[in-house]
Amino acid sequence: MLKLSILVVGGGGREHALVWKIRQSNLVGQIYCAPGNPGVSGMAECVKIPQNDIPALLNFARDKEVDLTVVGPEDPLVNGIVDEFEAQGLNIFGPSQKAAEIEGSKVFTKYLMDKYKIPTADCVVFDDYDEAKVYVDETSYPTVIKADGLAAGKGTLICQNEEEAHAALDKIMVAKAFGAAGAKVIVEEFMVGEEASVIAVTDGENIAYFPAAQDHKAIFDNDEGPNTGGMGAYAPAPLMTKDLLQRVHEEIMQPTVKAMTLEGRPYRGFLYAGLMLTVAGPKVVEFNCRLGDPEAQVLLPLLETDLVDVMFRIGKGKSVKSDFKLLEKWAMCVVIASGGYPGSSEKGKPIYGLDKNLGDDIVLFHAGTSRGESDEIVTSGGRVLGVTALADDYYGAKEKAYWAVGKITFDGAYYRKDIGAKALRYLRR
Ligand code: AMP
Ligand code: GLY
Repeated sequence: MLKLSILVVGGGGREHALVWKIRQSNLVGQIYCAPGNPGVSGMAECVKIPQNDIPALLNFARDKEVDLTVVGPEDPLVNGIVDEFEAQGLNIFGPSQKAAEIEGSKVFTKYLMDKYKIPTADCVVFDDYDEAKVYVDETSYPTVIKADGLAAGKGTLICQNEEEAHAALDKIMVAKAFGAAGAKVIVEEFMVGEEASVIAVTDGENIAYFPAAQDHKAIFDNDEGPNTGGMGAYAPAPLMTKDLLQRVHEEIMQPTVKAMTLEGRPYRGFLYAGLMLTVAGPKVVEFNCRLGDPEAQVLLPLLETDLVDVMFRIGKGKSVKSDFKLLEKWAMCVVIASGGYPGSSEKGKPIYGLDKNLGDDIVLFHAGTSRGESDEIVTSGGRVLGVTALADDYYGAKEKAYWAVGKITFDGAYYRKDIGAKALRYLRR
């Protein structure tokens, strides 16, 4: 049988998890990852092309006759990588530029949700600084101020009072901390509740779900301190009951996928709904046009279905009607970060323990790692590694994940000690 060659775009923990999952498919021969990382290099050929260099990625995929390209991060999707590949007749899995606006423009998505009655926080949009300032003097607190465009997860500011709101508007609209992404702002109602990530694959009509996951965005235990890209995740999240998931499907995911088609932006790819489970029911915090990170590091190991088959067919414009087959297990991922993260962190620290055999139920996903002068693996970013453990129950996953974390050391290593703690409240019920 002829084997498919696959290109994965990106080089973080999510992309390592994608390569790990793709490697298990019987359909696959060669895997390339651009730019990849030292963890990926055992399973795929890493190619020195930055994830945002769409022309170079396109040339590479054409030269190597890549059968399917899978995009990890949002930037290339929002910048139109899918449109450019498809214009050249190349098979690529992900939303078009117009569909990726669901993450690329929070203002677009707020209008969409308003028009199609998809539950979310009430909001007002401003492109004028003075008008926004007048409004925040009269609104109630806490209130949430968001830059419209991509801001690497840092464009949302929760404000407790008028001074903080003024500072947020100054940061986004005057100091332009997020560049053009801050030309418009959203001032949004603060929602109270528990957060969960519902991530699915859609062909523009049918929707297949991963288990619901919970991320841990704050740097310190008990969700204290500044937000990060995510310090750990677990799935399935027991707060997301079957009934709730059905509601999320009927009230949020299905109407959104339909709305995108009606708006002439048919959505194909991973679709991530960041939700707040409020007393009034689930409401959308944000949509992402990709897999979450670290969520991917727990969701892909829980998937039994051959994802390559699904992505290949959707990339070809075919429909995929079947649900995902999931392992009846629990997964937990604890992120080990460099000291100082999410601020500036030291790099180049040798990592010890990577060569230990930790067993089949533990997977180490690399994120911020690179090769040092003598080819040893060193730290090269804020989030360094995701340590994922699989077990038959929640307690087993937690115990194994933290046991494995204890085997890995580097100077300044930091991780949260309470990943999954929120699940306990629901398990004890
Ligand atoms: P976002 O950039 O929209 O993903 O928001 C980042 C984080 O800010 C979310 O994960 C929530 O914890 C918080 N957040 C965003 N919007 C709201 C809101 N309307 N109410 C309460 N918290 C929010
Ligand atoms: N873990 C949150 C995100 O990927 O956006």
